[in-house]
Amino acid sequence: MSKRVHLLAGVVALLCIATFFLSTILVELLGSNDAVAWLKGLIVMPGLFVLVPAIAITGGSGFFLSKSRRGRLVDAKKKRMPFIAANCLFVLVPCAVMLNQWSAAGSFDSSFYRLVQAIELLAGAVNLLLMGLNIRDGLRMSGRLRSASALPNRPS
Ligand code: HEM
Repeated sequence: MSKRVHLLAGVVALLCIATFFLSTILVELLGSNDAVAWLKGLIVMPGLFVLVPAIAITGGSGFFLSKSRRGRLVDAKKKRMPFIAANCLFVLVPCAVMLNQWSAAGSFDSSFYRLVQAIELLAGAVNLLLMGLNIRDGLRMSGRLRSASALPNRPS
């Protein structure tokens, strides 16, 4: 049961960050100011209200599952999790809230807006990478994905 919860919450969290990331790039490149403001609103509500619990449930269920596990893969996942959580709570959430307020007020052109937008995209990319690595290692641990070193050598 907790393995299913972990898998589901992890995938939901990854999809949230990937959706925020791609939709932000698309709307900043192609959309009107109104479209940017609309998206910023959606990222905060309902976006953050899905992402933050999903990350918390993934971390909590992961630590619960890992009680009976030892080894390199679980250690690596444990080390990445605090960075994922801190990045979400202390970078992504405040950036999303600030960008939403500024875009709702129509102040898109300040260099501060652009800086915060760049920080948000960078933090999103880092979390996508770390969560992708945690999914890879999780699938290896559950036996759904074979690691390269476990594959038989090909005849040369
Ligand atoms: C955002 C962070 C994380 C993501 C996206 C993630 C994702 C996954 C995925 C996709 C699986 C495979 C589940 C399955 O095949 O049913 C998995 C398994 C697992 N994860 Fe995570 N995980 C994360 C964090 C953690 C953390 C922090 C821990 C604890 C140290 C952890 C411990 C485990 C364990 C022990 C398994 C293997 C369960 C088993 O097969 O018995 N995960 N994880």
